Amino acid sequence: MKKIEAIIKPFRLEEVKDALNEVGIAGMTVTEVKGFGRQKGHTEIYRGSEYTVDFLPKVKIEIVLPDNLVDLAVTAISKSAKTGKIGDGKIFVSAIEQALRIRTDEKGDQAL
Ligand SMILES: Nc1ncnc2c1ncn2[C@@H]1O[C@H](COP(=O)(O)OP(=O)(O)OP(=O)(O)O)[C@@H](O)[C@H]1O
Ligand SMILES: [Mg+2]
Repeated sequence: MKKIEAIIKPFRLEEVKDALNEVGIAGMTVTEVKGFGRQKGHTEIYRGSEYTVDFLPKVKIEIVLPDNLVDLAVTAISKSAKTGKIGDGKIFVSAIEQALRIRTDEKGDQAL
């Protein structure tokens, strides 16, 4: 199992969610976050206004999924989140040791 953490522009969330549903992922967690990248937030525009603060609003998507879906999911996120402008975000992939569905005690891939 792997975990994908994707930081994206908030207005792209619906597109990304739809693209991920087509891949067949079973669940996701979405959090409103703030962050900055190489430009330190200074030159980015959000909803028409230029932000002068360091932290810009972003959305973080977390998905735990079986190894064989990772490449498809990463491509789906990248394509659907891309505007080609700075601040489009990042995708991080890490290993997950265990998962458990609380209701049934299923573990591993069965719990996803
Ligand atoms: N190294 C990092 N670690 C953790 N989060 C990061 C990292 N880089 C970027 N982020 C998160 O992703 C968001 C978007 O980053 P961003 O796309 O601006 O990266 P960038 O490296 O500056 O690329 P670009 O030049 O395309 O803007 C940031 O606001 C922050 O929340
Ligand atoms: Mg940036």
